[in-house]
Amino acid sequence: MENRRILITGGAGFIGSHVVRLFVNKYPAYNIYNLDVLTYAGNLENLRDIEEAENYKFLKADINDAVKIDSLFEEYKFDSVIHLAAESHVDRSITDPLAFVKTNVIGTLNLMNAARKFWKDNFNDKLFYHISTDEVYGSLGKAGLFTENTSYDPNSPYSASKASSDHFVRAYGETYSLPYIISNCSNNYGPNQFPEKLIPLFIHNIVNNKPLPVYGDGRYTRDWLFVKNHAEAIDLAFHKGQHKETYNIGGFNEWQNIDLIHLLCQIMDRKLNRKEGESARLITYVKDRPGHDKRYAIDASKINKELGWKPSVTFEEGLEKTIDWYLENKTWLDNVTSGNYKDYYKKQYSR
Ligand code: NAD
Ligand code: TYD
Repeated sequence: MENRRILITGGAGFIGSHVVRLFVNKYPAYNIYNLDVLTYAGNLENLRDIEEAENYKFLKADINDAVKIDSLFEEYKFDSVIHLAAESHVDRSITDPLAFVKTNVIGTLNLMNAARKFWKDNFNDKLFYHISTDEVYGSLGKAGLFTENTSYDPNSPYSASKASSDHFVRAYGETYSLPYIISNCSNNYGPNQFPEKLIPLFIHNIVNNKPLPVYGDGRYTRDWLFVKNHAEAIDLAFHKGQHKETYNIGGFNEWQNIDLIHLLCQIMDRKLNRKEGESARLITYVKDRPGHDKRYAIDASKINKELGWKPSVTFEEGLEKTIDWYLENKTWLDNVTSGNYKDYYKKQYSR
């Protein structure tokens, strides 16, 4: 279809802003609607470069407000949805699980209900694309990878809420024939990530000579993907993916936290003209996260074989780019770490 009217939810957040930018720039004939309520994690600064584009419109709305979501479908006649809006931080889900059920589960249902109502169950050229996480699969031992057939086994309130929303999307596909795609991605990193997640938090703390709080023994493993490569995978799956299918997306790039943190410290020493080992002295082992998943690792061979996707940015390149972005965008970082951030930080790290 040449002229799509795509609703992207959560477009002011980290991954969403990269997806919105990609679609606005790459598809001038599409109308891109970015729906976001602007929680602490949503920031329109992320989209300054495209906010005047003719094919872009920002809609401030809460996916928990079903009446408002219905009315926006009526008004703007979306023909597809790329759904990223969510509460996304595991630590916050441990202190406030209900907020995650509301937005991640009920919010997703509100969007699908609106889509069904407005599309009147006539689903030609329609698509509900749900963005999910590898965390729904739970934790791996030393060996093995998550495939699309791995059973769901979520351990945190965050991953349980995402797993639940994935199940509802499938259920709407089976019960009401809602055309859907789900993709489950590994840990993203890159510009514009809120400094509560490991990489931006540690960059921020290194710059400010603050302790680097490593949970537990630091021997937890994550698979890291540069955010722009995730956005490209979403573009591909949206246009070429099979409906009613799931695609795992990952970086083929596993790191134990402590090794990643040492690499980060080394690069930061160089960039900040510090003596070798100076940043690493900030490493401080702190109390572990409850229910901390030991290892995530994605088998992304399905999307690779079927759609030809693979990450183009190596971890070394991506990490350099990410660090440079945070060093060059100090005002962005200062703005998001003022106000409520200080309260959050105190509560999270003074236990
Ligand atoms: P984020 O926290 O940076 O951004 C979330 C965005 O959603 C924010 O702009 C926020 O304002 C918006 N939002 C939250 N609640 C809302 C509501 N009720 N109504 C409207 N908007 C609301 O998150 P992110 O890291 O960009 O993640 C985006 C999506 O990708 C999420 O669904 C997440 O589960 C998934 N995901 C993230 C990662 C990762 O590593 N960050 C990995 C895999 C999947
Ligand atoms: P995070 O970025 O929160 O992503 P997720 O928990 O969704 O994978 O955390 C990545 C890893 O880093 C995870 O094993 C927890 C660990 N971690 C710390 O050791 N210290 C911290 O302050 C944070 C935020 C995370």
